[in-house]
Amino acid sequence: MRNGISRVVLIGTGFVGSSYAFALLNQGVTEELVLIDLNKEKSVGDAMDLNHGIAFAPAPTKIWYGDYHDCRDADIVVICAGANQKPGETRLDLVEKNTKIFKEIVDSVMEYGFDGIFLVATNPVDILTYATWKFSGLPKERVIGSGTILDTARFRFLLGDYFKIDARNVHAYIIGEHGDTELPVWSKADIGGKPIPELMKEKEAYKEEDLEELFVNVRDAAYQIIERKGATYYGIAMGLVRLTKAILRNENSILTVSAYLDGEYDSKDIYIGVPAIVNRNGIRQVVEIELNEKERAQFRHSVDVLTGIKDKVF
Ligand code: 2OP
Repeated sequence: MRNGISRVVLIGTGFVGSSYAFALLNQGVTEELVLIDLNKEKSVGDAMDLNHGIAFAPAPTKIWYGDYHDCRDADIVVICAGANQKPGETRLDLVEKNTKIFKEIVDSVMEYGFDGIFLVATNPVDILTYATWKFSGLPKERVIGSGTILDTARFRFLLGDYFKIDARNVHAYIIGEHGDTELPVWSKADIGGKPIPELMKEKEAYKEEDLEELFVNVRDAAYQIIERKGATYYGIAMGLVRLTKAILRNENSILTVSAYLDGEYDSKDIYIGVPAIVNRNGIRQVVEIELNEKERAQFRHSVDVLTGIKDKVF
């Protein structure tokens, strides 16, 4: 923040990045938005196109195609750059390619004295958030990954749809890897104060198998979308805007993000999706919810899978 003017720098204006920029502008979240991408012409075009919407936005945002110099005064640098999944590929398949790209990006951002918060969305997000933390040397609180923010949103949407309740009244988390080993925290899921197991008893039509299938649809949502349209971007873009707001407006909101664990959940030296309190300083605190035995074992498995990959890369 320079002279009290909020600035977000977005690196990578592909599907996710440009959807994020559009959502950010529509919600009037930041005063300045800088776009950086290897494909300069695409980003210059994006900046022009977005600027033409300012007359219809809820608040003015100054948008331009910039360069790494602009990171010096940024509050948040959002990284959406990198290769994305092809049909059939897992998020973890992207690790080598994207870690190399991240080394260059993070070094370039830091070269200009960036001292704000990194927000990482590129997959595999937990590993690349760890990479950003390592490469940048910033405190762990100021490096945040989108983690399971989108999986949690998918979960809330599908539960809301099943029980015919507004998703915003559904309190339920997906934690762990943003990927194949993630898990639902059923033991703490509730709708308007009613635990899900209690709700299940209210109608004969509610079936345990439906909930199992519902979670599989959350976990595999990205595959289902990529199969159909090649990429996912609107949901994650809105999740990133939610996070940007929580930071710039010092909200102390609890969101499931990829956060560094240093003993929490009996885990160390790993970035993984957990609920955390997010404010102007980044991650104020990881929220440790009590998991049941099955959830603890599933979370441990997720940590072990990510640790195995992280240890190969670092
Ligand atoms: C998603 O879950 C692919 O990580 C992306 O939509």
